[in-house]
Amino acid sequence: MSLSNLAPKQGPVIAIDGPAGTGKSSATRRLAQALGYVHVDTGAIYRALALLTLEKKLETPALETAAAIEIARSARFEFRRIVGADPENRILADGRDVSLLIRTPEVSMASSRISAIPEVRAALLDLQRRLGCVGRTILEGRDIGTVVFPDADLKFFLTASVEERAKRRLYELEISGKDAPSFEEVKRQIELRDHGDTTRSIAPLKRAPDAIDIDTTTLTLDEVVSRMEGLVRERVS
Ligand code: DC
Repeated sequence: MSLSNLAPKQGPVIAIDGPAGTGKSSATRRLAQALGYVHVDTGAIYRALALLTLEKKLETPALETAAAIEIARSARFEFRRIVGADPENRILADGRDVSLLIRTPEVSMASSRISAIPEVRAALLDLQRRLGCVGRTILEGRDIGTVVFPDADLKFFLTASVEERAKRRLYELEISGKDAPSFEEVKRQIELRDHGDTTRSIAPLKRAPDAIDIDTTTLTLDEVVSRMEGLVRERVS
């Protein structure tokens, strides 16, 4: 779909892309708060779609693909901010709050699989564009700077070593009280998802040529956020 077919931007839009475990979600949430922008977690949309598809308990990959396409075209995905709730950013799928159900390893793997289906990406493109184009929005995902908002006012691409990302993910799982797999297993799952996300034929995870790289391996969250905030204040009016 060409840019001219997409909803026009009505104010500043910031794009943040990068693989899992780079601190992207936490940094985006904090940056949005600091700037008074709306945070749009596009991964949550793919996750909600994956959850609805998994709930159908289909037996073959072909049936799963067909169901995912059908659900992407027909389901209603909405964001709602509930101040004081944990998490504050809630995602509703057909009116049902699925914010907690989408944060499991099964949904992570299924969302990576389902997000490689071209018809799914096409069906979700317009929604992501509409959520962002109102302006003063920060969208995080994998293809925001390359496909959803190639015309974003500022683009960041976050990276970190696989070891550091696995360490962070393991820590998150441990503090959430879930049964944590071994470090090697978490690292393996991250590498698998990276492989799927970067090698899919449509809208693969890739750095936009005009994106600013931030390697978060040795940076604290505060350092990442303050670097990004400084650049937004300097370059985006
Ligand atoms: O950011 P996340 O880990 O919550 O995303 C879950 C999956 O969704 C991820 O494996 C890739 C996919 N995704 C995508 O393909 N494009 C996006 N803009 C956001 C997420």
